[in-house]
Amino acid sequence: MRRPLMAGNWKMHLTLAEAEALASGVVRGLAQAQVSPEAVEVAVCPPFTALERVSRALAGSPVALGAQDLFWEDQGAYTGEISGAQLADLGCRYVIVGHSERRHVIGETNQAVRRKLEAALRHRLGPILCVGERIEERRLGRADAVVQDQVRTALAGLSRDQALQVTIAYEPVWAIGTGEHASGEEANRMAGLIRDQVRELFGTEVAEAVRILYGGSVKPANVGEFLVQPQVDGALVGGASLEAEGFVAMAVQAAGRQGG
Ligand code: PGA
Repeated sequence: MRRPLMAGNWKMHLTLAEAEALASGVVRGLAQAQVSPEAVEVAVCPPFTALERVSRALAGSPVALGAQDLFWEDQGAYTGEISGAQLADLGCRYVIVGHSERRHVIGETNQAVRRKLEAALRHRLGPILCVGERIEERRLGRADAVVQDQVRTALAGLSRDQALQVTIAYEPVWAIGTGEHASGEEANRMAGLIRDQVRELFGTEVAEAVRILYGGSVKPANVGEFLVQPQVDGALVGGASLEAEGFVAMAVQAAGRQGG
């Protein structure tokens, strides 16, 4: 059975003091709600600048630390970049790879995403691989093909053990930060499509173990729609993860899900 993951992507928000307060609020809220870490895994992904401060706020709690991106080289003359080695050194357990804002605002290609994913695995960081189509691709009936291509380029040729470390987030670009979200049924269909592809690449055992999240305008009022879907193992939450009470409420809902 797959343990659901509720991951918060804080994007380019929060000062150090705000990030620390949010992290502490999440830790406190989960404890007060008596959320069992066996029932749901919770992770937060602050901006690089706040990783160390947040890691201290999370110390001794079951909340995992994640970063939002990494560079594919381990060290060297790459001004402004951050390596997987540095993130592992900070205590990160996860790193988001190929977020749509990096693909479509910064211009990361599928090939760059692949290199980053390999770098994450090299440093024992669990990659949260984001895939998802744009609205024009969906309108042209190309959503499935676009997502399959993203998954294939990121994962084909990895070892079975490496594939088991990966979490995949289906995040349709048109749903991110727009307030418009995929229907539960469509999120389930896309997650199933992704799982079928993982099965083709790595076999049934890996496909049944890999977690597939939904992301895109998830909030406390709609997260339940996704959590009831058999193929969806949690959520990657942007805007609604910036408020401790709501984020904890979503983790509580995920803890109540009997999935897998
Ligand atoms: P959103 O972002 O929840 O604000 O739509 C999701 C994401 O970018 O991961």
